Amino acid sequence: MSSNRLTALVTGASSGIGAATAVELARRGMAVAVHYFNNEAGAHQTVHTIRAAGGEAIAIKADVRQRSDVESMVAEVLKTFGTIDVLVNNAGSLVARVPFLETTDEHWEDVLRLNLSSVFYCTRAVARHMAKQSSGIVINVASIAARHGGGPGAICYGAAKGAVLAMTKGLAKELAPYGIRVNGVNPGVILTPFHERFTSEELMKRMVDSIPLKRAGASEETATVIAFLASKDAQYLAGETIEVNGGQLMD
Ligand SMILES: NC(=O)c1ccc[n+]([C@@H]2O[C@H](COP(=O)([O-])OP(=O)(O)OC[C@H]3O[C@@H](n4cnc5c(N)ncnc54)[C@H](OP(=O)(O)O)[C@@H]3O)[C@@H](O)[C@H]2O)c1
Repeated sequence: MSSNRLTALVTGASSGIGAATAVELARRGMAVAVHYFNNEAGAHQTVHTIRAAGGEAIAIKADVRQRSDVESMVAEVLKTFGTIDVLVNNAGSLVARVPFLETTDEHWEDVLRLNLSSVFYCTRAVARHMAKQSSGIVINVASIAARHGGGPGAICYGAAKGAVLAMTKGLAKELAPYGIRVNGVNPGVILTPFHERFTSEELMKRMVDSIPLKRAGASEETATVIAFLASKDAQYLAGETIEVNGGQLMD
């Protein structure tokens, strides 16, 4: 690494919340590994935005559903930056809206691998390194679906995100003795390619009507909460998942 900056690995940083998070962490002085899978152009755009502002970033490709891909990605980031101080487990997707009675085994397994196994593989690979340096921060991007079960056709996704929520708490307890803080965010309705792909205009209108702030959120409004969790300001938070949903769901 060319400096003594803190370093972050943000998965799914080729668009949406992940891209905004990578840019925000870089704005706060971190060197950022911008992970992508299919959207290489998006990842390069994120890297370009960071570098244009004087920051340090690299793009790195991996299929986070595959353990070996994840382990190679983490090794590559460590080779480049020398360390990983912050891991943001953001990559994820609904994959498709499928009514439960029509759900196939393949869909169930794909959604679980993308949204849950990915968090397991990435956190295990990075936490092994963080434990050696006796410090680290892990932030999991779950979803409002983890708490209300998911919108239409999102049973598998809601179940996977619910498990991420539980994993955030378990990891927070088990990794705290190694100096690793684990927290998360539950985005509500955030305007990203996610909804362009999966949400009709009519469904979006219904969802926004149910939000007290009467609008969907922006990626940047989620990124600043993630950056807060990655900062010293959040140093006494562990196992917490912050709702970023404009009041759509409250305890
Ligand atoms: N937007 C919302 O309202 C909302 C609400 C709740 C939770 N979330 C969560 O927020 C996170 C970010 O979503 P977003 O809304 O920002 O959506 P997005 O713009 O579609 O971003 C999804 C990211 O995940 C990556 N990804 C997808 N499949 C992958 C795979 N197999 N391996 C590696 N990376 C993969 C994508 O990479 P490539 O495009 O490069 O393949 C992309 O960077 C997700 O975990 C999502 O579940 C979003």
